Amino acid sequence: MTLDLEAYARDGFLVLPGFLSPSDCDALQARAAELVAAFDAGPARTVFSTRDQAHARDRYFQESGGAIRFFFEEDAADQPPALALNKLGHALHDLDPVFDRVSRQPRLAELAAALGLQQPLLLQSMYLFKQPHIGAEVGWHQDATYLYTEPVTVTGFWVALDDADCDNGCLLALPGAHRGPLRQRFKRVGDALVSESLSVEPWPSVAPRALEARRGTLVVLHGLLPHASAPNRSSRARHAYALHLIDGRAIYAPDNWLQRPALPLRGFS
Ligand code: FE2
Repeated sequence: MTLDLEAYARDGFLVLPGFLSPSDCDALQARAAELVAAFDAGPARTVFSTRDQAHARDRYFQESGGAIRFFFEEDAADQPPALALNKLGHALHDLDPVFDRVSRQPRLAELAAALGLQQPLLLQSMYLFKQPHIGAEVGWHQDATYLYTEPVTVTGFWVALDDADCDNGCLLALPGAHRGPLRQRFKRVGDALVSESLSVEPWPSVAPRALEARRGTLVVLHGLLPHASAPNRSSRARHAYALHLIDGRAIYAPDNWLQRPALPLRGFS
């Protein structure tokens, strides 16, 4: 596999058009639709729409590292789940056979190897809906904030399952800003999830780059690269699949929010 590793080192991202086949994109979208159709949204929506149920909501999230859980948009009270969900997460790749097969195909293993992950572990997966009209923005962040290893190794594989452009909330990135420090960690302290400030250095003042991506495009994101996405104000969905890998040679922080006590991490085999 030939990659422009110089561009990756310079920018902190790579855009690889046509990486996932149309049939794999179809398979993920169809499987996600099946999971949503089989999901009993009633109790979960009650939990999430009631502010004093924050504790139950936090637990539902905290346990999602080893599960397939359903997270709603905040402003979707009257919509059916298929139009109201924000994402599914975070162990689709280990618990669902379709996501497992697509996530562990040889092309993805080759990509991880080409990027220098010597002991790749598939840590987290998310099916991102970015619904028409209500799909929320995702603020500027570094993925290592959430999935911290010592040293930082987390690498994102983000795949467009619909054409993603500036109208429906494509990825935005700050080219080269992965060379700055990690600003925050999001971690467990006892039963709580807290943000810890590590650096107050502002994002560098470089122009954000819109990473428009046709269906099947895979975007590699360095774990320190600041990235975001705008809300989807269009009438078109912007589904995407995001897989996060770490290198097993690094130390996985025991206080990361994502813990999988009953589900050992696996690589591509
Ligand atoms: Fe991210």
